Amino acid sequence: MARYLVLFLLLSAAWESVNAQQAPSCRYVAQMISPCMAYLEGQDMVPYGPCCGGMAALNRTALTGPDRATVCGCLKGIAPRLPLINLTRAADLPRACGVSLNVIISPSEDCNSLSPP
Ligand SMILES: *[C@@H]1O[C@H](CO)[C@@H](O)[C@H](O)[C@H]1NC(C)=O
Ligand SMILES: *[C@@H]1O[C@H](CO)[C@@H](O)[C@H](O)[C@H]1NC(C)=O
Repeated sequence: MARYLVLFLLLSAAWESVNAQQAPSCRYVAQMISPCMAYLEGQDMVPYGPCCGGMAALNRTALTGPDRATVCGCLKGIAPRLPLINLTRAADLPRACGVSLNVIISPSEDCNSLSPP
């Protein structure tokens, strides 16, 4: 548990160094993702409760175009800082939780395409 707290703090700090203005919402995104690390790193075979709870919470926040783009940007910023995560699992995580999240955890996601015209 302590390990994931450390990871979460690292994620928050990493993001803040990239874009201070987006810090609050990206900190929230990182917080929602952090229980998923054991799954994303291949230690757990299935994502467990708090992880899927985080996905469901992101699902609720990432509903509108601008919010989707923001959440997407956060995930995109986080992904390359997690060299241990399995990107196949990351991309599949919402589905693995049974959540139809409309953004994925990927360093190559085109977040601009999520903004409304
Ligand atoms: C990533 O996860 C998928 C699905 O669980 C698995 O099939 C694949 O072998 C994993 N890749 C690595 C590099 O561990
Ligand atoms: C995800 O959001 C959609 C749209 O609001 C909602 O219908 C669905 O129940 C949500 N899924 C979960 C698992 O929260």
